[in-house]
Amino acid sequence: MAEVLIYGSYGYTGEHIARTAVDRGWTPVLAGRTEAKVTELADELGLRSRVFDVEDAADQLRDVDVLLNCAGPFARTAEPLARACIETGTDYLDITGEIGVFERLHRMNDAAAEAGVTLMPGVGFDVVPTDCLAAHLHDRLPEATSLALGFDAVGSFSPGTLKTAIEGLGEGGVVRREGRLKQVPAAWKSRNVDFGRGRKTATTVPWGDVATAYYTTGIPTVEVYTPLPRAARLLLRADRVLGGLLERDAVQSVLKRLVDKRVEGPDDEELEEGFVWVWGEATDGRDTVTSRLRTPHTYKLTVETALLTTERVGDGDAPVGYQTPAGAFGPELILDVPGVQRLDD
Ligand SMILES: NC(=O)c1ccc[n+]([C@@H]2O[C@H](COP(=O)([O-])OP(=O)(O)OC[C@H]3O[C@@H](n4cnc5c(N)ncnc54)[C@H](OP(=O)(O)O)[C@@H]3O)[C@@H](O)[C@H]2O)c1
Repeated sequence: MAEVLIYGSYGYTGEHIARTAVDRGWTPVLAGRTEAKVTELADELGLRSRVFDVEDAADQLRDVDVLLNCAGPFARTAEPLARACIETGTDYLDITGEIGVFERLHRMNDAAAEAGVTLMPGVGFDVVPTDCLAAHLHDRLPEATSLALGFDAVGSFSPGTLKTAIEGLGEGGVVRREGRLKQVPAAWKSRNVDFGRGRKTATTVPWGDVATAYYTTGIPTVEVYTPLPRAARLLLRADRVLGGLLERDAVQSVLKRLVDKRVEGPDDEELEEGFVWVWGEATDGRDTVTSRLRTPHTYKLTVETALLTTERVGDGDAPVGYQTPAGAFGPELILDVPGVQRLDD
């Protein structure tokens, strides 16, 4: 089996991935920047460990086949780690959902391809199921010109997800139009969507597929929707007139401290019971096709999709260069995850 290194291995998501990998007989190297946290988990699981900052990664990756980066916000970790991977011939995967990160890694495509390295950001809940649904809808309607994707998740968030979301507050929204990313106001558009359990008001969110679905399908218009509580919609829209209050460092620091104090992430019971409906609709102006996925809890799915893609990249199944999950492995990838069902209208 390929030599796998998990960076950010002791965060909420990294630790779940590391523990599940061990349960399945893997022996990854655990890594991260804080020595005490890395060694405690590695000792408990009987694994090797490495401690390094992302800027010093190249020296630590020369004997590593695949790096799985779980250290977010990824705006600070993805690019330096991907650069180190290109230097050392190591395949790179991460669980980002940040549009800017997808775009920056996409710009590293040529260097990665030349080095024979795969760069595959977004192998968690964001974006594997939606990316697979986008590819499936494209197969159903190859001339599609417009794609709407969305998800209705039951469950709470991990500390890192909330901190990453806080860093994005005040930045407004993003959609894709005519193949280009377009900045739009926060909570820009709403529509009524049946994600799988009745109609709900859903709002546009700057989700990773705005970047990736275009690379997977070539469909030039992409929007992503999720139901937001009315209060959240109003707060995001109010920020347009409050002059970017949510973008201020002081406001974000207070919110992040609150997360550190109060948020632990979903417990095992929630991970087992939670579920998500993922919805997608493609149209070519004449015909419209709709498909849905029902998946396990977002974080449970993230563990499964991160390990599945890491294994397949390690087996040499992915092309080199920048890759999306469904671009590399096809729309059926998601159906290899236990508990996932796909329904076409
Ligand atoms: N794609 C998806 O669907 C999906 C699913 C789950 C999570 N995520 C994302 O994954 C990230 C982690 O989430 P989480 O809940 O596991 O977070 P968490 O519990 O806060 O853990 C974050 C991890 O990242 C490390 N880290 C953060 N900034 C770093 C930096 N600049 N350099 C090196 N290490 C750094 C932390 O190390 P220290 O403790 O040493 O700072 C820690 O190991 C978040 O960005 C989240 O949005 C995405």
